[in-house]
Amino acid sequence: MASVATLSHVYPLGSRVNERGHLEIGGCDVVELAERFGTPAYVVAEDDLRDRARAFVAAFRAAGAEDFEVVFASKAFPATPVLRLFAQEGLGCDVASAGELHLALRAGFDPAKLVMHGNARDDAELRAALDARVGHIVIDNEGDVERLERLCAGAQARQAVLIRVTPAVAGDTHEKISTGQADSKFGVGLADAPALIERVRAVGGLELRGLHFHIGSQLHSPEPFRAAIAAIAQLGEFPVYDLGGGLGVAYTDDQRPLAIEEYVGALVSAAREQLGPGRRLLCEPGRALVANGCVTLYRVIGVKHNISTWVSVDGGMSDNLRPMLYGSLYQADIASRLGGGTRVHIAGKHCESGDVLIRDAMLEDPRPGDVLVTPVTGGYGYAMANNYNGVPRAPVIFASGGQARVVVRRETLEDLHARDV
Ligand code: LLP
Repeated sequence: MASVATLSHVYPLGSRVNERGHLEIGGCDVVELAERFGTPAYVVAEDDLRDRARAFVAAFRAAGAEDFEVVFASKAFPATPVLRLFAQEGLGCDVASAGELHLALRAGFDPAKLVMHGNARDDAELRAALDARVGHIVIDNEGDVERLERLCAGAQARQAVLIRVTPAVAGDTHEKISTGQADSKFGVGLADAPALIERVRAVGGLELRGLHFHIGSQLHSPEPFRAAIAAIAQLGEFPVYDLGGGLGVAYTDDQRPLAIEEYVGALVSAAREQLGPGRRLLCEPGRALVANGCVTLYRVIGVKHNISTWVSVDGGMSDNLRPMLYGSLYQADIASRLGGGTRVHIAGKHCESGDVLIRDAMLEDPRPGDVLVTPVTGGYGYAMANNYNGVPRAPVIFASGGQARVVVRRETLEDLHARDV
């Protein structure tokens, strides 16, 4: 059994194994949380999220950045209570649709701190961003300029915009979450950027403040960020640069991602060298703010032996699509017997063979009725949850200082047909 000292660093900050040998998150025994709130459930250590938000801000200050904003990429965990927490911490918010914009406003973000993205926004979505007076709209393509020109005609105030540039830099990550390579579906290439810059400058209702890039997600090296900054430096001088998100996190014990301080330090120093001093720097972390702060609790339904040992749980691809979409690796523990002795596959409850959460997980004597916990599910877990097989989506529980509360309730069976007409 793992002692306090050996609990994996992938668990939320402040987690421990308590006197009963149970995992404790935010001071709450997760076996009790499973009993009280049911499973599956996303359990968020509120203090972990706050600590990471503060670490980003402190890292910018420590690196000597004069003017900066840490902007939470809300797509990573688009639940109003999570957004509200980051709004309270003074962060900005990146929204990529009218829906995310709606949630960010509801969560209380100052519209001036919102950055609106998208490669395929219709008039209604851009109208919503203009009406909300978001701080920046990021222009992805020529069509955006045409739409904004039309929608801004006759408006009193000019809308601040950035242009998303694809810097032809590919980070080392899964192809489905790599965006900086040439011929990406996002942004405008380096060769075409000058013409788009001129085009935007000619629109009276728009104020071109700067450039944006986002080269990809789950990156573990500062090199592609430095390369991207060097690439966009060729496009002229601007007051604002939005350097996107992408900082990777540890999903398993053996992974040692860049620390927030190292990543931010690299961004700030490259920006100072390549873009000049005194620029306003924005960065848009999603995963790095929320992934490690959240675990998913499941109940083990059955254990069976075919050629392998299969442990089946009461959730799966409806609450965590990442293993199926990206082949992402996770680890797991039995919440009351941490550490692992037996090699097993952890199967979800859904009706397809692809619904396997973890292959070759090491669990300590798994039995039906046990609470199984998968760490690092805060990034894009809830975000990509779905109702496959009519499974109601899991609740979000906030835990802090030994107190737990439901902040997003579990869906009900009625919710499953609530939109029927
Ligand atoms: N900014 C922009 C414009 C983005 O498109 C993204 C992520 C971010 C910031 C935040 O990136 P992060 O810091 O989270 O890496 N569903 C995938 C991830 C897709 C990321 C999409 N864009 C996954 O589960 O891995």
